[in-house]
Amino acid sequence: MEQGLPIREPELTSKGAYYIETFGCQMNVRDSETAAGLLENCGYLRAEAKESADIILFNTCCIRDHAEKRVFGNIGALKEQKEAHPNMILGVFGCMTQQKEVAEKLYKRFPFVDIVFGTNLLSKLPQFIELAESGGRTLAVDENNITIEDDLPSIRTGRVNAFVNINYGCDNFCTYCIVPYVRGRERSREPRAVVAEVAKLVSEGYSEVTLLGQNVNSYGKDLENASFAKLLSLVSTVEGLQRIRFMTSHPKDLSDELILAMAELPNVCHHVHLPVQSGSNVVLERMNRRYTRERYLDIVGKLRASMADVEITTDIIVGFPGETDEDFLQTLDLVEQVGFTAAFTFQYSPRKGTRAATMENQIPEAVKRERLHRLNELQQRKSRENNEKYIGKRGIVHIEDCDTRGEEPVCYGKFSNFKMVYVPAPPEMVGRYVPVRILNVRKNSLTGKLEEL
Ligand code: SAH
Ligand code: SF4
Ligand code: F3S
Repeated sequence: MEQGLPIREPELTSKGAYYIETFGCQMNVRDSETAAGLLENCGYLRAEAKESADIILFNTCCIRDHAEKRVFGNIGALKEQKEAHPNMILGVFGCMTQQKEVAEKLYKRFPFVDIVFGTNLLSKLPQFIELAESGGRTLAVDENNITIEDDLPSIRTGRVNAFVNINYGCDNFCTYCIVPYVRGRERSREPRAVVAEVAKLVSEGYSEVTLLGQNVNSYGKDLENASFAKLLSLVSTVEGLQRIRFMTSHPKDLSDELILAMAELPNVCHHVHLPVQSGSNVVLERMNRRYTRERYLDIVGKLRASMADVEITTDIIVGFPGETDEDFLQTLDLVEQVGFTAAFTFQYSPRKGTRAATMENQIPEAVKRERLHRLNELQQRKSRENNEKYIGKRGIVHIEDCDTRGEEPVCYGKFSNFKMVYVPAPPEMVGRYVPVRILNVRKNSLTGKLEEL
């Protein structure tokens, strides 16, 4: 082989191509990057399309019923492909198959699926693949393993932003939520492991990271002398790191120390994803959220007083068991008052094993649907109002990608505070930080023109 050629020359040594389909949240996106790293270490390469893959993996989500149904549909649809290519390896992992019963059901119902395992056995993927290569099947759910494995290989998917886990699992047990059951107890990575990973990413060319946790605000509660604000200070010293994002923030743990850190550290972005879930104290109590609407509004006030440009996004559930019209109006009222940049809104979906699933007064579908519709209409108006305040303003956009399909290439990326901006610009701008003047608004984004530096 000539010098300088890649060590792993695809045609010569590749065992085949893999395709990973990811459902759910950023945790799963990050896990899929690890799965990809493990597969490439085994000698597989990324497939361009599902149809040409020799290994297909589904990384599943079970947060709502809809998410689970989609996964089942997707697996069923692969039966023919598997029949046509019997050597193809099919695997299902992630949150859905961390539920023992669901994993067993899936394993029985789809005999053509080779590998089924839960969230915390990802590092074993190479073993499961090896077994599948020799025709064996795997069903593996470990309900206790909660070790943190810091050094697994991974193939990053973010072009300009890299995800970095800071804490895993969740201890909050919001009564509607399955996550604590499928992601285990909360555990924090050591600060130096986080900083080392960020520094490595910067050396690889990333200048923006998103620190991930189900509740980043409680980071460090299982470590000595650690807090999320302290971690942010440490990470912010990594040379060359321009933007630090994080999600998700639980209102009950959002400290004044954190607000101060955000305001003072120059590379921490002024955006908080702060799920409120409901505007009614009665509902918040039954959800076990452990804050009141007053406390929530107080935090919003403090964030805005400390950072004039801060943007706040949220998650809201409508139709939680027992939610009355009055409760729902309280949610609308809070949305009106806060003026969120954006809100992810959901109809409550009962999850087996959670407390809310067996609560009385489950809300009929039609009522949930109607409430969701009303909430979305209001949020759309608020998003637009929020966008309009940017007209004529200038800011720095970190360009993420470029759409070259139209007559003129259009780049897009975000302001530091998460506002999405579209701007006519050539593809060479991808990865750069460019000044943009806002000229117009769209439903969920801004449009503008490039300015001189
Ligand atoms: N850890 C994060 C988000 C977890 S899941 C947090 O605490 O904010 C993302 C969102 O899904 C939640 O914020 C909630 O709004 C929604 N969600 C969770 N369980 C749900 C359920 N059973 N039905 C409907 N929405 C749900
Ligand atoms: Fe679920 Fe609540 Fe934990 Fe978020 S904080 S993952 S909503 S239990
Ligand atoms: Fe879904 Fe698991 Fe995330 S249930 S929302 S993928 S933590």
